[in-house]
Order: sequence, then structure tokens, then C-alpha cells
Amino acid sequence: MLTPAERSAIKEFFLSKGLPLERAVTFSDVTLPENYSRIRSRSEIDDFSTKLAQSLRLDIPIVSANMESVTGLDLATALEREGGLAFPPQTLPIKERLHLIHMLGRADSALIDRPLTINPEHPLRDAKELMDEFDIRSLVVVDKQNKPVGILSTRDWLYEEDDGKPVGVLMSKRLITAPSGTSFKKAAAILRENKIEKLPLVGKDGKLAGLITANGLFYKSRHPRATRDENGRFVRAGSIGVGRKFTPRHLYEIETQAKEGISILLVDTARAFSVNTEEAVKKIKKAFPKLPLVVGNVSTAEGAKFLFETGADVVKVGQGPGFACTTRMVGVGIPQLTAIAECSVIAARYKKSVIGDGGIKSPGDLAKAMIVGAKAVMLGNLLARARESASQTFVDEENRPVKNYVGSASFAAQLQRYHRGDLDNIRRPEGVTQTVPVTGTVKEIVGDLLAGLSSTMAYLGAGNLKELYAKGKFVAQTPAGYIEGVKRP
Ligand code: XMP
Repeated sequence: MLTPAERSAIKEFFLSKGLPLERAVTFSDVTLPENYSRIRSRSEIDDFSTKLAQSLRLDIPIVSANMESVTGLDLATALEREGGLAFPPQTLPIKERLHLIHMLGRADSALIDRPLTINPEHPLRDAKELMDEFDIRSLVVVDKQNKPVGILSTRDWLYEEDDGKPVGVLMSKRLITAPSGTSFKKAAAILRENKIEKLPLVGKDGKLAGLITANGLFYKSRHPRATRDENGRFVRAGSIGVGRKFTPRHLYEIETQAKEGISILLVDTARAFSVNTEEAVKKIKKAFPKLPLVVGNVSTAEGAKFLFETGADVVKVGQGPGFACTTRMVGVGIPQLTAIAECSVIAARYKKSVIGDGGIKSPGDLAKAMIVGAKAVMLGNLLARARESASQTFVDEENRPVKNYVGSASFAAQLQRYHRGDLDNIRRPEGVTQTVPVTGTVKEIVGDLLAGLSSTMAYLGAGNLKELYAKGKFVAQTPAGYIEGVKRP
């Protein structure tokens, strides 16, 4: 139940934003009047940073949908390079989820604390297998005591035809190491001076204690927005479903993800305003009190309040607005702009935040979500279209590259989980599979969204997202008004 103070805060916010109180609206029901702007060109705007949780800032307000046809390792890496955050699908078997999280932690990492190693007496074929599996180009060669004795890189075996040759014969023995704890600045100087790419770190006992990579260290010039922690590693998110009952298996899955160094955990279920979620969140909070939790989905202020009271740090908002969703066919859900607005008022009172999940089709939708208080939006459809998304590319009848974007509650997704043995029975689907065109790389898709967002911001006279939130006010538009603005070739 909302308190009278919460109700009046919602009312006040809606009035201040020009949102109707008597009916729920979505993105295309409203439009944004311009403001006087001191911004001479939209190219002046390049600050899209946002604070998602107490300890987590993102350079761009975009997170990937935790869907199997969207977020795999390639998409996660590409999105975090651009400054977003990737959520692994909780429906992925835990082994695959852990692999994704582990590999994301290594991608472009400045410091790898548990580098992959091989012994010198192993045949080249073992090294190749390991490099293939983890998609890396070099291995630290260590002796039986785990002391580094060489480095094996692709170029050491490129022309070698005998896969049985021992690694020790092929590896480069020119080994430059540094004591563990060496600063990034010092490491950069050593790497530069010696024109090497990898710097193994050794402990006082001479044993391998980590690895600093040039790739990770000099990332800044190539990926200035990348989402990294203080050790230069990509920020890793974990995920867990809720199920009918929260079991020791759920806790085990979270524990293994926590061991991979996740900074935030997504607790995901279609109906989060529920007893199952309450039990799950309470148990997770008890076992992992310091782990920030994103919990969803809900679409009402009451639902958001319930989740914040239960222990959520971020609430994910959206029931039915998504491109592959058919939840509204059961008559439930609130049009997305009203849903985000209501929940964000509650979030502000708890000093917490919300993610607007679903229904974003254009930079304008993204801007509108931020204006009603979302700290980030979750994208499924738009990211599924990226070359790097987890869905296979095929060609349509006109030979254009396309992918299948599979709703998580669709028949196709359920059938896959059923065959994997993760699902006992197939329920009435609440999602569909959509074939979508491949529209570019993550960098291009995100770049286009941000270019559009900076245009919105220039029209509104907002230099950053805080100003956009403060200055953005809506007017309602008629369906004809909306159609007037939609151009079709
Ligand atoms: P977009 O519009 O970006 O939305 O594709 C992504 C979000 O849609 C939700 N989702 C579903 N909702 N049935 C639903 O009702 C489904 O099968 C389904 N699959 C995904 C989810 O919240 C996602 O982030």
C-alpha cells in the first residue's frame, strides 16, 4: 500500500512532467516541446553518464536484456566497451553463465589475477585447445611450482606443423616479469620499453601472481567509455531466476557467480510483486548483504515499493512493452512511460533507482524514459539486431541478413529449455519470436542512439542527463499527431 505522501509525490511529479493522471501512457502518446537552448551544436554533448546504483556508474544509460538471443559474450564485451552494462540470461545453464561472466572479466583486462597457464612439457595441441576455448592469443608457461618460465603466443607456433611438439621448445624464453603489486603506470613503462604485450607478475616466492596486458592497459584511447572497475576489468553482472521456490541450487548459482567477482546481481522474474520474489530477495540479501540487487519486473508504484522494502537496490520496470512480449494478451501491464514514472518517484524516495525495461525503439523513447526518471534502459530488440548479438545470422528470402529475436517466455525459448532439461513443462507462451534485420555492430547501434539522444538534449537545452531529467516536460499527442511524425519510405 502506498502512503498518502507517496501518492501525492506521484501526483506532483506527473503534473510537473505534463503526464496525465487519469490514464496510463506510453512513449508515443507524448511528445517533447523544445526549450530555449544554449547549446550551439549537438556535437557539444558527450556526457551521458548515469548512476545506476550506489557503487555503479555507467558512461551510457544502456543495459542489455538478459535474453538468450541477445546477451552472449560478444555482445557483452562490445556493449561494455561502449560504456553500457551486460546482463547474462538467467535461463542459461549455470556453466554457460559462468563462462560468459568469467570471459567478460578477462576481455581487454588490464590485470588478470588468475592467468591461464600451461606446463612446458605439454604438447602444442593442448595449448591450442586452451587458447581456442578461451579465445586468447598467449599463455604463460609455468613449471610444476607455478613459476613462470616463458610465454607461448600464436606467433610462436604459427608455422609449426607438429602439434605434438612440447610447449617448452616453442615458447619464447625471453621472459620479463614484475613483482606483484606493480602499479599500472610502472607496468605501462615496462611494456612500452620492452615492446612486449604481456607482463607476468610474480610473488616473493617466484610464483605466478597475475598478468598485466598491454591490450587492457592502453584501452583508454580505444574505448574511452568502457565500463571498468578500479582494476581495469569489465564490470560483471550476474543473474538468477526465482522459480516457484528459492532453493539451495539458487544460492549455489549465486555463490559461484560471486566467486567470479560480479558487482551486481539481477534477480529476474516476470512477476516480481510476489511471495516467491520476496523469499528469494530476503535469502539473497542475508547470504550476500553487500551485493547490489537489481530486481524485476514490476510496473506499478506498489510493486516497486514492495521490492525496495524487500531489499532491491534497483528495480526493473516493464510488463508487456517489449518487442517480443505478449504479456498484455492476458490483460495485465501498464503502458511503459507511466509505469517508469510511478516507479521512479518511489525509487527517489528510497534513494534507489529504476531501469526502464522494454519498448525502446528510438532515441526519443530513450530520452523520454530518462525524463520520467529511469537511470538506464534495458534493450532487447535493438541489441538483438547487432552483429554481435547471441542469435545466429541467416538470410531472408531477399538475401538480407536477419536474426531471430526470441521472447524469453515464447514457445521457442521454452522448448529449448525443455530439451535442455531445465523446464518440466511448457506453459502458455507469453512471448513470440520475431525475425529482425541485422542493422550494424553494437558500436554503430549504440552510437546512433546516443547521436539521437544528444539531438533531443540539444532541443531541450540539456547538457547532460541530469539536466535532461530536470528540463524535459511532455505534452500529450493524438494518434494523428504521432503518425504525422512517423516517416515511412
Ligand atoms: P525490447 O522491447 O527491448 O524489450 O525488446 C526487452 C524486454 O522484453 C521482455 N521480454 C519479454 N516479455 N514475454 C514478455 O512478456 C517474453 O517472452 C519476453 N522476452 C523478453 C524482457 O523484460 C526484456 O528485457
